[in-house]
Amino acid sequence: MYRFVRFITLFILISLLNNTDNLLFKSRLSTIKIGSFNLRRYSLAKATSTNAVNTHISKILQRYDLIFLQEIIDTSNDNQVVNLLLNHIDKKSKIKKYAAIISPPLGSTSYKERLVYLYKKKSSKIKILSSYVYNGSVSKMFERQPFILHIELSSFGKIIFIGTHLKPDSVYDEFRHLRTVIDQLKEKSSIILLGDFNADCSYLNNVKKKEMRNTYFSEFQWLIDDRTETNLLESCSYDRIIVSSGINQWKKVNWKPKTNGTFQFDKKFKLTKKLALQISDHYPVEVDIY
Ligand SMILES: *[C@@H]1O[C@H](CO)[C@@H](O)[C@H](O)[C@H]1NC(C)=O
Ligand SMILES: *[C@@H]1O[C@H](CO)[C@@H](O)[C@H](O)[C@H]1NC(C)=O
Repeated sequence: MYRFVRFITLFILISLLNNTDNLLFKSRLSTIKIGSFNLRRYSLAKATSTNAVNTHISKILQRYDLIFLQEIIDTSNDNQVVNLLLNHIDKKSKIKKYAAIISPPLGSTSYKERLVYLYKKKSSKIKILSSYVYNGSVSKMFERQPFILHIELSSFGKIIFIGTHLKPDSVYDEFRHLRTVIDQLKEKSSIILLGDFNADCSYLNNVKKKEMRNTYFSEFQWLIDDRTETNLLESCSYDRIIVSSGINQWKKVNWKPKTNGTFQFDKKFKLTKKLALQISDHYPVEVDIY
């Protein structure tokens, strides 16, 4: 009898474990990892460099189902630099793993960069709906207009990504105008702002940061906090992911606790400081959403 009870208890325990396993498996299936990465002047020279830089960049990018890239320097008419980047990712494999959505060169001076979304092609979880460079009433206020992407996540619904790379010298003004960009969206779904906001240290002091949080983006959650260093050279959190949290008309973005933060590729790959900085002076920032 005693042995029988033990057996039954064991049996119940195993079924329970199996069940949690299934639950975990299910949630893993329906989450996607999104990120933002300032690739530090990713130009033709960098894309064709023969050292380990591109191998590591490819490895980093393949963590993500969807990633927003800044500082892509490509003056060609046929997306030469981005195609080289995609080739590095695919390397020997015949199938194309990622596809790119590329902005025109943006910038008011001779320095122009493209903003790029890369996404996993075979992922059935993401449906790309549309993309465009913001061109509304405050577009002149930005050095580089936000690059907007509408997607549909199979497990969730519509999400609008507002990708941006704010100009260091006018972070405060550009950041405030991002609020206008949001208010001018015709569709009221979930929103994710992401990119290199330069939103810290000498470019945005604590008082102004507080104002941004409490006045301009009070319905939003900041997933990269001020203590999270996103830069390899300075202790600053320039790069941000800011999501709508279900207040007012903006639907909540579901994100998995503890998946938000940086990917410290220098430590993970045990790189020298020199090689790490050739990859970028920024860490990617990331979070899992579902
Ligand atoms: C932005 O809109 C203006 C006015 O509608 C138009 O002339 C201009 O070509 C647009 N620019 C872009 C980059 O789409
Ligand atoms: C993750 O986001 C939460 C909510 O905003 C925040 O409290 C936490 O500090 C964030 N973690 C990191 C590493 O930034």
